[in-house]
Amino acid sequence: MCSQKKVGIIGSGLIGRSWAMLFAGAQYNVYLYDIDEQQIEVALADIGQQLKLLEGNGLLRGSLNANDQYALIKGTTQLKEAVEDAVLIQECVPENLELKRKVWKGIDDIANPNSILSSSTSALLPSTFTDHLKHRKNAIVSHPVNPPYYVPLVELVPAPWTDPDVVKQTRRIMEDIGQTPVSLSKEIVGFGVNRLQYALLNEAINLVSEGIFDVHDIDKVMSDGLGMRYAFLGVLETTHLNAEGFVSYCERYGKMIEGISRDYKPAPKYEGNIVRQVADQLEKSTPLERLQEKRNFRDLGLSKLSLLKKQMSKLF
Ligand SMILES: NC(=O)c1ccc[n+]([C@@H]2O[C@H](COP(=O)([O-])OP(=O)(O)OC[C@H]3O[C@@H](n4cnc5c(N)ncnc54)[C@H](O)[C@@H]3O)[C@@H](O)[C@H]2O)c1
Repeated sequence: MCSQKKVGIIGSGLIGRSWAMLFAGAQYNVYLYDIDEQQIEVALADIGQQLKLLEGNGLLRGSLNANDQYALIKGTTQLKEAVEDAVLIQECVPENLELKRKVWKGIDDIANPNSILSSSTSALLPSTFTDHLKHRKNAIVSHPVNPPYYVPLVELVPAPWTDPDVVKQTRRIMEDIGQTPVSLSKEIVGFGVNRLQYALLNEAINLVSEGIFDVHDIDKVMSDGLGMRYAFLGVLETTHLNAEGFVSYCERYGKMIEGISRDYKPAPKYEGNIVRQVADQLEKSTPLERLQEKRNFRDLGLSKLSLLKKQMSKLF
C-alpha cells in the first residue's frame, strides 16, 4: 500500500461529497474528480457550507477545524491527478453497469498497482464491473449507508478475485476515518444491508396492501418500536437478550417463529395501485416539497443518536 494518505474520489454527487468530508475529517488529502467541472464547483461550495454548519452545531468529525478540513479537498477534472498514488480510489459515479465498467477501465489504466479500487455501488456485484481490470485483485465494494456522515456502516464486498489483504486494508482505512466496516465473505445479490432492508419493506407493503395497517402505523412499528432496539443491538443480539440467551430463545419461540413465517406472502410488485396508496399517505404527512426539510430532521436526529451511541459504547 502507498505510504501517502491520499484518496481519489471519482464522482462529486451526494455520495462522493460525503466520502470527501469523511476522509478530510481523518486528515487525508482528498482529490475530488468529476467529468463535469460545474458539478465540482457546486460540490465544493456545498462541502464548504456543510462543514461550517457541522462545526457550528458541534458535530464536525476529527480534530481539524472546518477551514482546515476544507483545505484538504481539491477538485479536479484530471483523472490522473485524482488516481495517481492514491491509497484508495473511491468510485461514486451513477449506478449504471456500463458506465462503471468504463470508468473503472480508465482508472485501472493509470492506477498505482497497490491502490485499492473501491466502489460505492449499492447493488452491482463487483464481479460484473471489475473482471476486465489488470488490477482486479485490488477491487472491492465499500457500500455506504445514506447519509454516511451520520450512519457509519460500510459493507465491504469482495469480488471472487479480490486479494484478502485488500479487504483487511480497506477495513483498516474505514476504521481510520471513523466508519464501521462489516465484511461479506463473498458477493451476494443485494449484499447484506439491502437484503435485510427489503425483507422489512416487502412485509410492510404486504401488510398495508392487505389493509392490516395504514402507512403511518406500520412505520411506527419500526421508528417507535423495533428500530429503537436495533439502534443499539442487532437483530440477533436482540433475541439473545429477550430470553436467557439465544438457545433459550430458540427453544421458547422457535416453533412460533416458524409458524408465523409460513404465513408470509411472496414479495410484492412495486407497481400499480399499492404504489399510489402508500404514496398518498406518505405525501399527506410529508408533502414532496417538504422532503428536504424532513431529510434535515432525519439528519439532526441521526447526529444526536450517533453522539448517544458513542457515549453508550463506553458502558458495555
Ligand atoms: N444516494 C444514496 O443514497 C447512495 C447510498 C449508497 C450508495 N450509493 C451509490 O453511490 C454511487 C453514487 O451515487 P450518488 O447518489 O452520489 O449519485 P449522483 O448522481 O448524486 O452523483 C454522481 C456523480 O458522478 C458524476 N459522473 C457521472 N459520470 C462520470 C464519469 N464518467 N466520471 C466521473 N464522474 C462522473 C456526476 O457528474 C455526478 O457528480 C452509486 O453507485 C450509488 O448506487 C448511493
